[in-house]
Amino acid sequence: MAVSRSGFSSRMGFIMAAAGSAVGLGNIWGFPTQTASNGGAAFVLVYLVLAFCLAYPAFMAELLIGRYGQANAVTSLQKMSKTLWQKRFAFLVGFGGIICAALILSFYGIIAGWMMSYAIEPVLKLASFETGASWVVTHSLTRNLMFTSLFMLATIFIIRHGVENGIEKWSKRLMPLLIVLLVLLSSYVFTLEGASAGLDAYLNPDISSILDPNLLISALGQAFFSLSLGTSVMVIYGSYISKKENLVTLGAQVTLIDVSIAFLAGLLIIPAMYVAQAQGVTIFAEDGSLVSGSSLVFTILPTLFQSMGDVGLFVAFAFFVLMSIAALTSSISMLEGPVSYAVERHNLKRETATTIIGLIILAFSMVIVFNLSFMLDLVAIISTQYGQPIVAMLCCVFVGWIWHRNDVLAEIKEGNSDVEHSVFWKIWPWYTKFVCPTAIAVVFIHSL
Ligand code: PHE
Repeated sequence: MAVSRSGFSSRMGFIMAAAGSAVGLGNIWGFPTQTASNGGAAFVLVYLVLAFCLAYPAFMAELLIGRYGQANAVTSLQKMSKTLWQKRFAFLVGFGGIICAALILSFYGIIAGWMMSYAIEPVLKLASFETGASWVVTHSLTRNLMFTSLFMLATIFIIRHGVENGIEKWSKRLMPLLIVLLVLLSSYVFTLEGASAGLDAYLNPDISSILDPNLLISALGQAFFSLSLGTSVMVIYGSYISKKENLVTLGAQVTLIDVSIAFLAGLLIIPAMYVAQAQGVTIFAEDGSLVSGSSLVFTILPTLFQSMGDVGLFVAFAFFVLMSIAALTSSISMLEGPVSYAVERHNLKRETATTIIGLIILAFSMVIVFNLSFMLDLVAIISTQYGQPIVAMLCCVFVGWIWHRNDVLAEIKEGNSDVEHSVFWKIWPWYTKFVCPTAIAVVFIHSL
């Protein structure tokens, strides 16, 4: 049975959806946290270079694979394979990405659930429901199970509505809101005492730490996670774009939005930490490094919000709503990878596939919740530090070594007839063939 495919209705729809996938907890939580734990501005600088020089080319590879294949990750990769072993390899890479997306969603949903619970706290406080307010921000099995389920149900709800009425519609609503909230919050933080010291730590690089291998690895991992690479997500989003669109420009625009929002989030969080310090909160660990990880978002920032009095309730609400929105536009893309596969390869109805796969992932999240202390980190490491770089590297290998060169060039030319005169045309095919896989492999092996 041939399934008629839907897709994004407009260029803007694609940009919002792809940027929605890219911009998530990785930008607003991960990037500032990594910046804080890797010596501030030096990390920012290395991240910017790697995002544009390595992550963007790999991102283009995934988008092009999807648009060429006009199908889920496995089918798209198989369309460019000629021999039997190439087709098997295509299955491995495509399905690997899908599993990776599902694994990421299973732990991402838990953290996103915490963001939602922290967003509800100020509301309960305003309603003078103190017991409820303290319950939602206290770690407990019931709280975690409840909010993870709530978040996953929201994700399932959107994906059941399909590409145009689900992903595109909600990304177009939520992304502008996210940007407005981020700008308002950081402008407010700038007016507070201590913010300028934070700006200094964020923007003045200590050049000597730039070549630190740990910093390089963290920055590359962060860039790949942020652009949702190696998870089949950008392949499937690429497959929903019309052949009339100029993919090279669209990809660059999404990368730019993703990087800018991470940068903006840093402008909010790092100064906010120094504002907290000016108010007596400890922001440095014993070894002199800035506090990072979950204590940054779930301890330091709430303390800061509390010290603001009543305004703090509104600021806290805005901040955690921002986090929840960012997480939701990412989680829907993670679910779309496996769902599109089930719909297109196994002829399942979208609604059925979404509900079944969503609930299986939720069940796995619950297993993690029951074993939080050891499973959360484990699943995160397996999927993001191993899975993503390997699959992303193999996608580049596919484009460089298996996909017929003339077909690659023809696909780049779709919607972009002048591309032959551009730097992208001259450099990218060669770059994806040699530089990307080697660089990713080197950094990956180094990280072991
Ligand atoms: N890019 C998202 C973020 O920054 C996370 C993500 C990873 C989304 C993988 C989809 C796939 O939070």
